[in-house]
Amino acid sequence: MTQKTWTAVDDYIEAKLVPADSVLEGALAASEEAGLPSIAVSSTQGRLLMILAQATRAKRILEIGTLGAYSTTWLARALPRDGKLITLEADPKHAEVARKNLKHAGFGELAEVRLGKALETLPKLASEGHRPFDMIFIDANKNDYPGYLEWAIKLSRPGTLIVADNVIRDGRVADAGDSDPNVQGVRRMYEIAAAEPGLKATAIQTVGSRGYDGLFIAVVDGDN
Ligand SMILES: C[S@@+](CC[C@H](N)C(=O)[O-])C[C@H]1O[C@@H](n2cnc3c(N)ncnc32)[C@H](O)[C@@H]1O
Repeated sequence: MTQKTWTAVDDYIEAKLVPADSVLEGALAASEEAGLPSIAVSSTQGRLLMILAQATRAKRILEIGTLGAYSTTWLARALPRDGKLITLEADPKHAEVARKNLKHAGFGELAEVRLGKALETLPKLASEGHRPFDMIFIDANKNDYPGYLEWAIKLSRPGTLIVADNVIRDGRVADAGDSDPNVQGVRRMYEIAAAEPGLKATAIQTVGSRGYDGLFIAVVDGDN
């Protein structure tokens, strides 16, 4: 099996199950036009995020890593009108494109882009004393994944769903000797998850138009 096959199958799934959507496609086009990197989730992954948010009846979602708000828009689609989504982005240009895309998608009020390094924004968010989040999607710099998981647990309640992208890294995650900081960051996140009694977690390897990678999925099921 090759990348060509994985992409062809993703195209097939998209044609069958992911309806064409001018708003989402427009968000990708605007991101590309602004020179943002092409590293958003695929449409099939975006739809999975929406399905997970809808299935868990999420009303409050936290996203770490916004880019041009493509995944943000998928997640926002699952929220009720009185829902709230906060998404964290370190790059001012990405945040600006994201805000425009969210406004265009009709989520200018419901979704809030917070600019700054997420490890600095997360404590501020905690100090604001919001209700816990129902779903948290981690998709920013991988070397900080351990801190992101720790904050996700702190900002959650029993039942909160935590999803993190890019946790397989072409299979390199299984190599303890791999010195890449991103691999090490993801490995440390697995260790934190394994040592956290209040978390039921798994990870699923995936192939598709984005190559070979995978998703970490966990539910908070105890006191934290
Ligand atoms: C993979 S992209 C996010 C893709 C987006 N979730 C999507 O699928 O449409 C990662 C984003 O995280 C941002 N980022 C990198 N380091 C960050 C940090 N320390 N804090 C917050 N955001 C960061 C990058 O600027 C980039 O926009």
